[in-house]
Amino acid sequence: MPRNVTVILNGVTGRMGYRQHLVRSVLAIREQGGVLLSTGERVQVEPVLVGRSADKLRDIAERHGLDRWTCDLEEALADDAASVYFDAQVTSQREEAVLAAIAAGKHVYVEKPIAESLDGALALARAARDAGVKNGVVHDKLYLPGLVKLKRLADAGFFGQLLSIRGEFGYWVFEGDWQAAQRPSWNYRREDGGGIVLDMFPHWQYVLENLFGRVRAVTAHVATHVPTRYDEQGRPYAATADDAAYGIFELEGGAVAQINSSWAVRVHRDELVEFQVDGVEGSAVAGLRGCEVQHRAATPMAVWNPDLPDPVDHRAGWQAVPDNGVFDNGFKLQWEHFLRHVLEDEPHPYDFLSGARGSQLAELGLRSSAEGRRLEVPELQL
Ligand SMILES: NC(=O)c1ccc[n+]([C@@H]2O[C@H](COP(=O)([O-])OP(=O)(O)OC[C@H]3O[C@@H](n4cnc5c(N)ncnc54)[C@H](O)[C@@H]3O)[C@@H](O)[C@H]2O)c1
Repeated sequence: MPRNVTVILNGVTGRMGYRQHLVRSVLAIREQGGVLLSTGERVQVEPVLVGRSADKLRDIAERHGLDRWTCDLEEALADDAASVYFDAQVTSQREEAVLAAIAAGKHVYVEKPIAESLDGALALARAARDAGVKNGVVHDKLYLPGLVKLKRLADAGFFGQLLSIRGEFGYWVFEGDWQAAQRPSWNYRREDGGGIVLDMFPHWQYVLENLFGRVRAVTAHVATHVPTRYDEQGRPYAATADDAAYGIFELEGGAVAQINSSWAVRVHRDELVEFQVDGVEGSAVAGLRGCEVQHRAATPMAVWNPDLPDPVDHRAGWQAVPDNGVFDNGFKLQWEHFLRHVLEDEPHPYDFLSGARGSQLAELGLRSSAEGRRLEVPELQL
């Protein structure tokens, strides 16, 4: 008989929960007949939608031909047939719901950050370990084509001695008055779990760790550049959370990463995020999808002369890294990865302890800025 895995999906009415996790991941996996195991067997995914609004859940279920949804998380968790709980709620609601799922014996997979604080993240990691349930946190950026290519270069030794990484992430998020804001208003309220450090430093932590080396120290300066925004009802509110962060991350092995994250910049780049990686042997520039390289032997000699136009077309001296394959949606790939972890024990290193390192970096980044100093990042133990 074909096997199924029932997954409880909480937060599917949200931006990430609906588009990336339900539609692009779980429903896409269902359409392909289930997740493919190493044995060649396919296991179909049966979603149970959970949320606060019956109308919204009914609407989503009808739109996608699904029949299981509830506003009662306890009821969903009481179903022994459901083995996995997934959480893409607002960050502030995550800890309590995930603890309840762990207590109900579910394997748990969650959006980042896994909790609002390091203590909360470690409590979740310990609870999952003690209950013996599998646990994972979304590390979607690692599955992006541009970063897959960067990792390929790093693994191949392309950079030689790694020197520095410069990251530029950001775009203008409309204030919400004369044009609708393209992000939810809770993102701009500290008291509701918002802020760009809490949002982006967990991503930078796992990107740096998995591509270039663990972060050993952080120096950050954060700012709230836009003090007043307008919420979903058009009402003005005070932006109490940071909307820009200027971070320096010292890596194991000696390289330095400097990453700007901002919701208050306009884009004059090819992509919304770009990383330039410089090593003695070569350099690379990667975005979400593309990646270009310049080897030391193909490096033009730049000569500073403000009196003349630069004779070198610098952008022309870079070579595209080929795809060499087809890239599926990163969220879907990680869903398949986590489900194989649950179903057949495939290693999935992006666990709650890894998620806790993301919360740790966010917390230290905010503290570094508040105290105006560099902070070391201690090794976390459970
Ligand atoms: N991996 C990524 O690239 C990425 C990108 C954006 C957001 N996220 C994370 O995903 C999570 C959800 O973010 P989003 O942008 O989808 O947010 P959103 O506001 O669009 O959705 C939030 C969801 O939480 C639910 N919710 C439960 N309790 C709530 C409450 N008390 N107040 C408000 N909503 C409540 C909402 O109904 C909705 O389903 C956050 O933890 C965020 O950090 C991850």
